[in-house]
Amino acid sequence: MAKKVILDLDTGIDDTLALVYAIASPELELIGVTGTYGNVLVDTGVRNALAVLEMFGRPDVPVFAGPTHASTKDSFEVTEVSAFIHGQNGVGEIEIPDAARRVEEKSAVDFLVESVREHGDELLIIPTGPSTTVAAAIEADPGFAENAHIIMMGGALVIPGNVSPVAEANVSQDPEATDLLFRHAKDVTMIGLDVTLQTLLTYAETATWRELGTVGGDFLADSTDYYIKTYETNSPHLGGCGLHDPLAVGVAVDPSLVGLLHTNLKVLTEGELRGRVMADETRLNDPEKTAHVALTVDVERFLGEFMERLTRAARQTATSELGSRSSAGV
Ligand code: BDR
Ligand code: CA
Repeated sequence: MAKKVILDLDTGIDDTLALVYAIASPELELIGVTGTYGNVLVDTGVRNALAVLEMFGRPDVPVFAGPTHASTKDSFEVTEVSAFIHGQNGVGEIEIPDAARRVEEKSAVDFLVESVREHGDELLIIPTGPSTTVAAAIEADPGFAENAHIIMMGGALVIPGNVSPVAEANVSQDPEATDLLFRHAKDVTMIGLDVTLQTLLTYAETATWRELGTVGGDFLADSTDYYIKTYETNSPHLGGCGLHDPLAVGVAVDPSLVGLLHTNLKVLTEGELRGRVMADETRLNDPEKTAHVALTVDVERFLGEFMERLTRAARQTATSELGSRSSAGV
């Protein structure tokens, strides 16, 4: 039986890749997408999620909007770095048509709370943006933290952050929310930079999507090339772009892709170390370990799965202008 999943996305480029990975995985039943801020404003992220779902033939998956900013702040503005990495529109300035439908009326927090109540152990929640929405669900319902199973992309345990020497982007947007999540959730798997900076994609792979001659193939290739280019500027030592968010989905499909450290986590929220994820020394010897931190990853197997699934999904989308010209021999 397929595992039910909800993706909580700040739909930028790697969130898009995560969404298509989920759609393309028969082991998963995507019951909804919740939209958060981060790479983009909530409205932009929700718009992108709806548009990508439509492009890949899943207009049936409901999309819900979450809080527009961290609860410790009054508002949110996209940082220059985020706009550089994901483009102003979140998908590398590639224009894709709006979906015919709109976001659901129900809030993302209500949807998460109701889904955990209804599906319990059959459901995985996969947040790939700031923890604000999940933290709000924990605060809204006393049973949520006890019963939710979460596989999140965020944080870095043993390597530096990517927005500062200590902080990873998702955690840095709302450190208090991730701290609350780590202290209360009974089952959270952390897919952080420790592993996601080992799973890299290059122009060689995106070229295979472009060769498909489909709308989905062109879109994935063009937006991911934009993302790879920003890595050439910001992290030239890596030699590709980090597949952060897709790895969280990969682990939902196949937990054996990563090796885990079982511990209890916290986030530092004060001073220069604000946003740093650490093991919680006060719970170090608790027999119950609520966090499972990925520290190793089978890179080759993951990249193989990732490419196979996304290529299959992209092949099934409509023929693109490029594709029809080349099949007509133009
Ligand atoms: C994370 O931050 C965002 O920019 C990406 O989408 C990913 O979720 C990586 O630090
Ligand atoms: Ca993300």
